[in-house]
Amino acid sequence: MPHNARTMAKRLLIVYHSATGGAARMLDAVLDGARNPDISGIEVCVRTALATSADEVRGAAGIILGTPENFGYMSGALKDFFDRIYYPCLEHTPGLPYGLFIRAGNDGRGAEQAITRIVTGLRWRAVLPPVIINGELDASRLAECTVLGATLAAGLEAGIF
Ligand SMILES: Cc1cc2nc3c(=O)[nH]c(=O)nc-3n(C[C@H](O)[C@H](O)[C@H](O)COP(=O)(O)O)c2cc1C
Repeated sequence: MPHNARTMAKRLLIVYHSATGGAARMLDAVLDGARNPDISGIEVCVRTALATSADEVRGAAGIILGTPENFGYMSGALKDFFDRIYYPCLEHTPGLPYGLFIRAGNDGRGAEQAITRIVTGLRWRAVLPPVIINGELDASRLAECTVLGATLAAGLEAGIF
């Protein structure tokens, strides 16, 4: 890739947490979509929630969030992410297109509601409904994660978000 093409690539930031590997399997499927070879000009950057800075969010053209549901809420790691980036990003990321995936044991709606409340405050824009998997991580459900990743990346490539 020529140097100027690299510097012009839009960044799709994926911020996730997984303690026992379930959300990480969803992440792998999201990446299959986001890194589809038919999509060009998108730099996909994967970061754990605890390691993601506000600067990284401010430099992103789009963001995908991934978490397990723990105690009816998002993981503590993703909550820590929001605690740290909310005010530094509030005036800098309005309209940021986002996607969300949640791994749950039997529900997932508590995490969805909590995250939706925060990203509404940030004025981020959902481009697809959240993918919540609370049963088997089978191929058809993981395919929804792949669609999520591909939709964000292709939409950024096309400039439609
Ligand atoms: C401490 C703890 C709390 C949990 N709370 C919930 C919950 O409130 N609702 C739910 O559907 N699943 C709950 N689960 C199940 C997890 O969401 C599930 O195990 C998930 O696969 C964890 O994702 P991970 O493998 O990416 O860490 C909980 C699991 C743990 C360890």
